[in-house]
Amino acid sequence: MVGEGGGAGTRQDRILTADESQLAAGAQRTSFGDRGPQVSSDAPVKLSVQGLTLSYGTKTVLRDVSFEVREKEVFGIIGPANSGKTSFLRALNRMNELVPGMRVDGTIRFNGEDVNSFRNVYALRRRIGVVFPLPVGLPLSVYDNVALSPRLTGVTKKAQLDEIVERCLRRAALWDEVKDRLNALGSLLSGGQQQRLTIARALSQEPELLLLDEFSIAVDPVTTMRIEDVLKELREEMTIVLVTNLVQQARRLAQRTAFFLNGELVEVGETEDFFTGPVLDSRTREYVEGKFG
Ligand SMILES: Nc1ncnc2c1ncn2[C@@H]1O[C@H](COP(=O)(O)OP(=O)(O)O)[C@@H](O)[C@H]1O
Ligand SMILES: [Mg+2]
Repeated sequence: MVGEGGGAGTRQDRILTADESQLAAGAQRTSFGDRGPQVSSDAPVKLSVQGLTLSYGTKTVLRDVSFEVREKEVFGIIGPANSGKTSFLRALNRMNELVPGMRVDGTIRFNGEDVNSFRNVYALRRRIGVVFPLPVGLPLSVYDNVALSPRLTGVTKKAQLDEIVERCLRRAALWDEVKDRLNALGSLLSGGQQQRLTIARALSQEPELLLLDEFSIAVDPVTTMRIEDVLKELREEMTIVLVTNLVQQARRLAQRTAFFLNGELVEVGETEDFFTGPVLDSRTREYVEGKFG
């Protein structure tokens, strides 16, 4: 229940904790230039969504959404609970096929290719990795959590697996904390460590596009900032779509952001404009200022 439908106010409740205000102040000091260089508008399009409408049975939860995400961009998605953010991520790598009654209309292109044209959905999901809001505990050791996908794709040599596991755990800023207990169950790690383990697991597939769904909802603010640092490094190599319940997190990380509200794409723009620049719709400014949740 924690990750989903937390209800109005989740965002504010979290922002108001003392730790988070301190962190927010720290982030102010380091300036929002941390978002990294603007992605040029002629960078290749990594993901293109055209006329996307999502429904469960007869209930439409996202209507006629169109936008593009460029290569090596961190693209934010913000919006209150139940606005359709998680459903949107599900559609991108066809996880909707695992959800009874979920219907996807419209077109999603990944590298210009319709995602429905992938005959092997697992091949698609290897290229589009997902990190869910709560660590999805596989009953496996720390090592095996990360080695699972490489093994499934044919890596069998121990030395090579060791190398992949170490590299992914390092990139997820977890290696130092777990290197002495690689054989312990992943589920015995702390919540923040498990969240980084899911990131390491996603990285083991070397995705080109990484989707993150409210990763910070179940981790403490210090871990949140560590994971944000990890994302700042990953954006050099991959495209990231970051769904976040923390508008300041979008501000820290995303060059551009989309605002979803009640199944509608209200607008897409430069993230900083949502806070201090021109907005197309006054609800966008009201939302980022916390006037409604
Ligand atoms: N498996 C499902 N079956 C039916 N309705 C669903 C399902 N998953 C989500 N919904 C509904 O879709 C709407 C959007 O949900 P979701 O995509 O989870 O939004 P968000 O991630 O922005 O909170 C909500 O009204 C939610 O109740
Ligand atoms: Mg969600």
